[in-house]
Amino acid sequence: MTSALRLGVNIDHVATIRNARGGVHPDPIHAAKLAEKAGADGITAHLREDRRHISDSDIARLMDAIVLPLNFEIAATDEMLQIAVRHKPHAACIVPEKREERTTEGGLDVAGGFESLKPFVSTLKDNGILVSLFIEPSEKQLEAAASLNADIVELHTGRYCDTEGTARDVELKRIIHAAGVAEGLGLECHAGHGLTFDTVTPIAEIPSLVELNIGHFLIGEAIFSGLDSAIRRMRSLMDTTRTNIAGERSA
Ligand code: PXP
Repeated sequence: MTSALRLGVNIDHVATIRNARGGVHPDPIHAAKLAEKAGADGITAHLREDRRHISDSDIARLMDAIVLPLNFEIAATDEMLQIAVRHKPHAACIVPEKREERTTEGGLDVAGGFESLKPFVSTLKDNGILVSLFIEPSEKQLEAAASLNADIVELHTGRYCDTEGTARDVELKRIIHAAGVAEGLGLECHAGHGLTFDTVTPIAEIPSLVELNIGHFLIGEAIFSGLDSAIRRMRSLMDTTRTNIAGERSA
């Protein structure tokens, strides 16, 4: 199936810049509202345990202010579960978290953490929150995600973006294969991490993917061209890719 590809805009790094000075500017909620106007289909925000960028009050304000669905990224801790249940975002994306890392380095070990994730996932689902698991493109992790009754998997594209040549081709093949397996298992399949104008097209070509979550590059690019323009260009690259695939298929 090939259909429109949704764009989730991650606004964490607007908060990173704000927090560098400790004031209120730039406001990530302003960025989320701009993203809505520029054609985003969702907003993603990661409330990290150390609150290095997004804060608790940002989440409360986002829930009040945005029309688009909020994809709330959290580690699988009791504190984050309570916050998710209080706000009831559209979806919660469970990510692994290490204090010393600069960004989410790898995927969640769903297979290894299966038993402890079970009550976490079922509490989210009982509260009407869609559960997304951020994983490496591996069959073992996909099968564990399906057994856990997750709604969504988000495939980690970081290694694909960070490598070049053959290594990148190998990683792309893993992502293509994993997206097909996810679809076969009945999991909605998303992807994200590290995507840029240069790396997005081969990922957007994967027909089983329904959403990409992109943040750091868009916020960085906004310095040069503005956030509206950066989001519109990403949107256009994704849409053009999908239109081309649909054309090839019907030819
Ligand atoms: N998806 C997940 C689960 C993430 O943790 C992140 C980074 O916060 C992203 C997508 C977006 O990655 P980037 O900011 O590199 O575009």
